[in-house]
Amino acid sequence: MKIGVFCPIGNNGWLLSESAPQYMPSFELNKKIVQRAEHYGFDFALSMIKLRGFGGKTEFWDHNLETFTLMAGLAAVTSKIKIYATAATLVMPPAIVARMASTIDSISNGRFGLNVVTGWQAPEYTQMGMWPGDEYFAQRYEYLSEYVEILRELWATGRSDFKGEHFTMQDCRVSPRPQADMKIICAGQSDTGLEFSAKYADYNFVFGKGLNTPTAYAEINDRLKVQTDKTGRDVQTYVLFMVIAAQTDEEAHAKWQKYNAGADMEAINWLMNQGGKDTKSGADTNIRQMASSVSPVNINMGTLVGSFEHVAQMLDEIGEIQGTEGILLAFDDFVQGVEDFGQRIQPLMKCREHIVVEEDVSQAILEKSA
Ligand SMILES: Cc1cc2nc3c(=O)[nH]c(=O)nc-3n(C[C@H](O)[C@H](O)[C@H](O)COP(=O)(O)O)c2cc1C
Repeated sequence: MKIGVFCPIGNNGWLLSESAPQYMPSFELNKKIVQRAEHYGFDFALSMIKLRGFGGKTEFWDHNLETFTLMAGLAAVTSKIKIYATAATLVMPPAIVARMASTIDSISNGRFGLNVVTGWQAPEYTQMGMWPGDEYFAQRYEYLSEYVEILRELWATGRSDFKGEHFTMQDCRVSPRPQADMKIICAGQSDTGLEFSAKYADYNFVFGKGLNTPTAYAEINDRLKVQTDKTGRDVQTYVLFMVIAAQTDEEAHAKWQKYNAGADMEAINWLMNQGGKDTKSGADTNIRQMASSVSPVNINMGTLVGSFEHVAQMLDEIGEIQGTEGILLAFDDFVQGVEDFGQRIQPLMKCREHIVVEEDVSQAILEKSA
């Protein structure tokens, strides 16, 4: 089972709460998190792109770094972990993204890959005059298909003459080409999104569901399988969960309750309002999951709350679900969360038994001198 960290590229990570840790995103913070994640054998780090925040008392996501430039910096200060940035495909032409990906492939020595998103919150794009209108909701994966065909062509041959509904390339060139086979990931949850991933992506990211129900998302693997049976491609799922862990179950639940008690209702209301805007993609879109009222304090992300032991056991349960190849982790406190995962959770996980963590010399010196 592969493990990744969802870099906190926006302020306060994924908790819309006044009583959660309050912090701004910075390169230094993400460097610390990703370097420690690499130390503990994490397989990859992914950052999203978010161009407009939700406001509220916590100014949720009003402060966001840019994903390619952040990941390029992180590529330069790491050596093993895979690095993924996210292309906001509506506002970044594929020829530019192909070239940026080649550049980070060079910086990282072949460790870079790309997450492609269609976009789902119009205000991110209307603010720049670049939202094509709400009809786009229904066409967004057709647009993304053309986009990815161009990327693949440019990376494979260095040229594209693609002509489609949305793009017209004319002897377009990109060189140098990436040294590694560039992996493309998508996070489709709707049937159209899954159909896209089955055809074009290497992995598909999905939202975990519920509180301490680690296997509740499994039905989406079945829906993806229906699509991959049609394309004959092997596309596995990576599932996103937030981990809130402590020494005991009680302590961990106390933290979760505290975050819920401090929920930033203004930011949450904005999210719910935005989540309802897509009336075109069909009933199965998970954009609505993000905005549902079940657990909006962390954007309805699947959440694992408990003692280190309990969390390890729940993560192992995910590891047993057919079609799942990896878990993407968010934490309430990322710096402490990565340390706790590396030192206290991962060593208890059966599906991470193969991970050998080198002795942490700097940590040992610190502990001795304390
Ligand atoms: C791990 C993960 C990362 C995502 N990153 C972004 C992002 O950076 N920007 C964005 O607009 N949407 C992002 N999304 C939303 C997805 O791209 C997608 O639109 C959403 O999961 C709904 O699925 P659908 O497009 O099939 O309806 C992300 C979703 C997941 C699960």
